Amino acid sequence: MEAAADEEIDHLAWCDERLRQLHSRPSLLNPLWYGLSFSLGAAAGLVNDKVSLGFVAATEEQVGEHLRDHLKRLPQEDQKSRAIVQTMLEEEETHGQNALRAGGYRFPKPIKALMRLTSKLMTTSSYRI
Ligand SMILES: [Fe+2]
Repeated sequence: MEAAADEEIDHLAWCDERLRQLHSRPSLLNPLWYGLSFSLGAAAGLVNDKVSLGFVAATEEQVGEHLRDHLKRLPQEDQKSRAIVQTMLEEEETHGQNALRAGGYRFPKPIKALMRLTSKLMTTSSYRI
């Protein structure tokens, strides 16, 4: 899990750097979403390891869907951004698989649907603000 955490920090640094190169900026909502995600993860961790690892796996599933959507929309010419997103996708999928292999609980469909809704809200608003 520590290696996965290091990779997440890399992902944030890569995205920040690429946004700067594209004369853009991260969403102003990032601190809010970071706080929410951290609190949800901490709450899952308080229940037990199976739920905590299950939360990681279900979250990575959402992240994977989001990154695949990005790859569909990123222009073919922007090879730099595509390479970052492709590498992130591969690493996030590994995080999810490792969390399930370590005994993570497979969240039921209704919970995943709720997480998908929350993820849509986060990504849509971050895109605009
Ligand atoms: Fe991850």
